[in-house]
Amino acid sequence: MPRPTIIDCDPGTDDALALWLALASPELDVRLVTVVGGNVGLDRTLANARAIVGLTGRDVPVVAGADRALMAPFADAAYVHGDNGLGGLILPDGPAAAPGLAVDALRAALRAAAPGSVTLVGLGPATNLGLLLAIEPDLAGKLAEIVLMTGALAEGNVTASAEFNAWNDPEGLAIVLACGAPVTLATLDLTNQALCTPPHVAALRAAGQGACATAAAAIWDSVPPSRRAGGMGHEQHDACAIMWLVAPDLFTGRPVHASVDLGPGPGRGRTVIDRWGRSGRPHNAIFLETLDPEGFFDVLIRRVASLP
Ligand code: RIB
Ligand code: CA
Repeated sequence: MPRPTIIDCDPGTDDALALWLALASPELDVRLVTVVGGNVGLDRTLANARAIVGLTGRDVPVVAGADRALMAPFADAAYVHGDNGLGGLILPDGPAAAPGLAVDALRAALRAAAPGSVTLVGLGPATNLGLLLAIEPDLAGKLAEIVLMTGALAEGNVTASAEFNAWNDPEGLAIVLACGAPVTLATLDLTNQALCTPPHVAALRAAGQGACATAAAAIWDSVPPSRRAGGMGHEQHDACAIMWLVAPDLFTGRPVHASVDLGPGPGRGRTVIDRWGRSGRPHNAIFLETLDPEGFFDVLIRRVASLP
């Protein structure tokens, strides 16, 4: 049976590929897409999410959420994703956003769900998810799993200490890590194994000529190689979180205790992933450690190429 799935995102070039992968995968029943400010401002991430979902022709509600973090001023990553958040690519405008606020749409969806039935995927700053679980903590019982693209065991990508989503709203992340639902982490240490290179772009263009595959290839072309990855390619951060749900056999991982630094200093937003259990604190997350890059891009390209 397809997994009832809700995706929170901040499109974002890599969010676009993740959304297309999710919407192309029969393993997932995407019920709702909620949007947060992050890579670029909420006005753009919302328009981008509507356009990305709209290009697939799928009737999935898209709802606007928080335009800033719980306890910090807004800070974007336009230097990576371009001012419009999609590397300059202009997509046809998508259907109007569903009315209301993301946190209310999330609460309504989970209230109506059976216990342990909904998979929640966080691809941006965890503000909407943190609000949800702070306002109505019992709704954690409706979740089968929370999968987050967030954090890093090693160096960050926005500061030396922190990965962008965790750094942008560490308080939101802390609430999610403490909520009691099963959490799976796709950190930078995993996503730097999923590097998109020019041959992957060529393979996507050869595999599909629909609007989504064409847009995805153009987005891939727009993203510069990552210097953290030695210029070998650019990480498919958010698609890794979705791919865990679609093809889990491509991954290895281990249970850990994970926390996030909420201090004001240079470590703010750093995720502390206790890989060897040195703290003795109870496991609260699965830390995904490896993925099979060849299998990852084979599935990603085939699924995106299958879209309209
Ligand atoms: O650090 C990478 C993460 O931050 C990705 O989710 C990217 O889209 C941005 O949101
Ligand atoms: Ca994202």
